[in-house]
Amino acid sequence: MSHVRNLFHKPSGHEHNPSPGSVAAASVATVPENVVTFANAAPAAPALPEFPVEEAHLRPENRLVFHDAPRSPAADRFRLLRMRLKEHWSAGKLKKLLITGPLAHDGKSTVILNLATALAERGKRTVLVVEADLHHSSLSERLRLNPWAGLTECLVDDLTPPLSAIRRIEPLGWYLLPAGEPRRNPTELLQTPALGNLMQKLSPCFDWILIDAPPVIPLTDALSLQQHADASLLVVRAGQTPREAVEQTVALLGKKNIVGIVLNGVEARDHLYYQYYDGNRRHPED
Ligand SMILES: Nc1ncnc2c1ncn2[C@@H]1O[C@H](COP(=O)(O)OP(=O)(O)OP(=O)(O)O)[C@@H](O)[C@H]1O
Ligand SMILES: [Mg+2]
Repeated sequence: MSHVRNLFHKPSGHEHNPSPGSVAAASVATVPENVVTFANAAPAAPALPEFPVEEAHLRPENRLVFHDAPRSPAADRFRLLRMRLKEHWSAGKLKKLLITGPLAHDGKSTVILNLATALAERGKRTVLVVEADLHHSSLSERLRLNPWAGLTECLVDDLTPPLSAIRRIEPLGWYLLPAGEPRRNPTELLQTPALGNLMQKLSPCFDWILIDAPPVIPLTDALSLQQHADASLLVVRAGQTPREAVEQTVALLGKKNIVGIVLNGVEARDHLYYQYYDGNRRHPED
């Protein structure tokens, strides 16, 4: 069985990879012309209401590269991913991004945590993370946040307006709509019209909305969620995700709906390059 290395896109020229076990944004394909375009390129999000603040407990196992190693190759890969995604955002083609992948444990939630932090640019942009993996909601737990009513409650109960279920996560600088209390019918919940209404209400309030979705192959949830996103970003694990699973996922989501693929866990190839530059480089924005 073959494994994924690089699927859609071969970057030209010098290619550098992060250290072993780190997260890598290895490949970002171009958004096709037919991806949904929203009115007015890169509109400024309206001023947000004051959301309650939750303090995240950041630990090494969360693999938050901007916190643990802001000058690492992995952090740089997220800056590259941000740059590529922002091109599409500036063109008014991308705002609601579904993050999914073929199988469980490929690193989707890890990528979301890092990408949200990168896109927020220390509070310059408003980024909402919607924890829409209602089967295995891990973000709140990983950040050791106290639970509060979230997406589930908004979908089943008209009395929970979506903005009331959002909190600002510090020191990461982005906003979270958590999964909420587990229910027995998560798949059905994501197929109700309430989800579309919720996304319509939230979309004008934020610069970016990142949707943490379950894996595509074992569940239909990601396909339901994709209907409410402008594009999907796939996360695959280098040397682990079977190529056949990636191909099946691309076929299910539709190639035209996929903005790119993040290759997670790429091994280091340019250790010396980074050793040389590490002492000179500064990233004041991160
Ligand atoms: N590059 C990496 N190197 C080593 N471990 C990693 C890497 N990326 C993620 N992990 C670890 O793998 C596990 C699964 O990661 P994560 O929860 O991000 O995956 P997921 O795709 O969201 O999983 P699920 O499908 O269960 O939601 C976590 O324990 C995470 O810390
Ligand atoms: Mg996850």
